[in-house]
Order: sequence, then C-alpha cells, then structure tokens
Amino acid sequence: MHIRSTRRNFLQQSTFAATGCLLPWSSAAASADTVDGPRSLRTHAQTHGLLSGCAVVAERLADEPTYADTVAQQANLLVAENAMKWRALRPAADKYNFTQADAILAFADAHGQRLRGHNLCWHEALPEWFQSTATRENARRLLTDHIQHVAGHFAGKLHSWDVVNEAIDVKDGRPDGLRKSPWLELVGPDYIEIAFRAARMADSTALLTYNDYGIELDTPEQEQKRARVLELVQRLKLKGVPIHAVGVQSHLTAGDGVPGAGLRDFIREVGALGLQVFITELDVSDHNLAGSTVERDTAVAKLYGDYLGLVLKEPNVTAILTWGITDKYTWLNHEHARRDGQPQRCLPFDAEYKPTPVFFAMRSAYDSHSQTQPSLGS
Ligand code: XIL
Repeated sequence: MHIRSTRRNFLQQSTFAATGCLLPWSSAAASADTVDGPRSLRTHAQTHGLLSGCAVVAERLADEPTYADTVAQQANLLVAENAMKWRALRPAADKYNFTQADAILAFADAHGQRLRGHNLCWHEALPEWFQSTATRENARRLLTDHIQHVAGHFAGKLHSWDVVNEAIDVKDGRPDGLRKSPWLELVGPDYIEIAFRAARMADSTALLTYNDYGIELDTPEQEQKRARVLELVQRLKLKGVPIHAVGVQSHLTAGDGVPGAGLRDFIREVGALGLQVFITELDVSDHNLAGSTVERDTAVAKLYGDYLGLVLKEPNVTAILTWGITDKYTWLNHEHARRDGQPQRCLPFDAEYKPTPVFFAMRSAYDSHSQTQPSLGS
C-alpha cells in the first residue's frame, strides 16, 4: 500500500501556518512523500532501538487489506485488543479457543513483528460462566490453570505478557491500594504474585508485566495511584517474584494536562528496580475539545509529541503501542463519545487510513529519541 499524502501534508502545513502554530513535526510532514517503508513508524522506531506498534483485531487483519497493510507497515510490535482476554479464550470452563489469538500470532510472525500477550488476570472481560463457577475454594486453581494453559500455549513466542492488569484502585479504600476485584475477593492479595509465578513457570522467556492506567498525570488522584503501583512492584521485587516490566497504559485526554515530573520519576524508580517500562495503550481522547478538526488534531498531536518526548528520555522505556492504528475503529468512540457526534481523531491514521498529525508527532519523537540514547546510535 502506498499512502500518498502530499496534498494532505501541504494542507497540514498551510493550516498550521495559518493558525500561527510552529509545530515540531511540521518539517517531517512537509518532506514526507509517503509514510510506508523507510518513512514508517516501524522503521523510524527500529532505527532508534524502539519497539512500536498497536492493538489489533484478528478479523480485520483477515478481512480488510488496507488495515492489514497498515499494521504490517507501521508496527514491529502488536498486541491483541481483546483476543487474549479470558472472555475470548474461555467459551466454557472446560474449553479454550485460540483461533483469533493464533491468527494474530501468525500475522505477527509472517511480518517479522513481536507480539505482546494481554492479559492473564483482570477484573474485566471475565466470561459469563466465571461468576457462577468461581468460588473461594477453586479460584486459585482456576487462575493458575488458566495461566499454565494460556501462557503455555504461547510459550517462547511472545515478547511479553500483561500478567496482571489494573490491580490498583485507590478509591476502594484499602491501605495497599488493591482493587476489590473478584481475584482479590476470592484468592486474597497474594493473587498477584501467584499469577506472576505461574506465568514464569509456563513461559520462561516472555517479559512479565504489571499494566495499569491513570498513573500518568500529576494530579493528587493519579499521584496516589502511581505511589501504590510503585509500592506493589517494589513488594513483588523484594519477594523475588518474577516481574520484568511495568505497562503504563497512557489513555490520555486532551485538555486534562500534560504528564510531567511525577511520571518521569516513577519511570526512573521502576528502572532502579531493573524493570523496563512499556507504553502499552496510548491514545488521546479529544471528547472535551470543541473546535475545528484542525484545532483538535493540533492539540491531540501536541500531547502525543509532549508525552513521547517526556517518556522517551528515559532509557528503560523500550516499547510504545497505540490502542489501535486507525480512528475508524477506536474504542474511544464508545468509551468517550463526543457530544457533537463527531468521531474521535486519536490515532496515527484517520478513518480513511491517511496519516494524521499524530503520525508525524510520533515519528518525530522517535527521531529525537536518538539524541537521548547516544549508545544506540554510535
Ligand atoms: C478495551 C477494548 O479496546 C474494547 O474493545 C473492549 O470492549 C473493552 O476493553 N484497558 C485495557 C484494555 O487494559 O484491555 C481495554 O480494551 C481498554 C482499557
């Protein structure tokens, strides 16, 4: 696929000029004839030693060539948006269905991409049968059997696993910040380390990750949550639990403020424990922004640029994934639908698969990354 976007770039350049904005990615946009091959996010990330990619849906990879081509060209790392969650893999308590998940792995293998597993333990996306089947007596076994079976199925083939997803929720009121999830209620607070140890037993090569959201901003609420996440990871490390990375989901909202020193310090603290940080689900909702498409795009891309500029200065940030590749399918149209009925514009490609200012902001941030990673370039 060739995404020829000269006209669009010209338009972007002139509209940005017209709004008086001098944006860091406008020069990249101006000189970009195509955004595939050597000019893709994939190549630019790779050149600077980064993994970069997106969440994908198996049916679209199979049925929509433009979607599949864009994912193939732009990503060297994929994650299943839903296909590896309990609900997708466990149609019944005694049945596993790996069809969609295996299809994503096959696509990744065919295109020289790595794949992240998402996820082994979460309070959401549990199958219908879970509630009537899981008890205090059998929940620990349900969890470890699932992990053994699922992580075992993919053993040796994945870049990483989100072993536990979203275990902290400060407003549930516990001093350790743990969310009152079914796993906490049925297994107890040790469920997290049980999950990590089971994952390690089943797959000795995937990087085992704790993944969470709402830890990016310097608001009191997010500062508290970030502190509880850090304590959790520190406790796990102290106990010798196998954990290798923290995933910062990064579902940001334009107008809510820009992440800053708090997140930077958190990434450094995590690094001091010897852990990597993955930006696992990046997108920017513009549901609070009025204004023209150009103004919205400008604000969204600026937040992407500022955010990536901040996190990529930290050498333990090694992977960036957006939650989807095209605005056509973003979950934000359901999660944060705009009041004016306009679709969200939050990802590197718009609904027609044309690169958006987000694309250029990301690529330019990857290029700047080389300046902060001298060892990679020399
Ligand atoms: C979302 C998917 O994008 C939706 O399609 C699905 O309906 C609900 O889950 N944090 C996560 C992801 O860890 O798994 C969620 O994905 C988005 C928030």
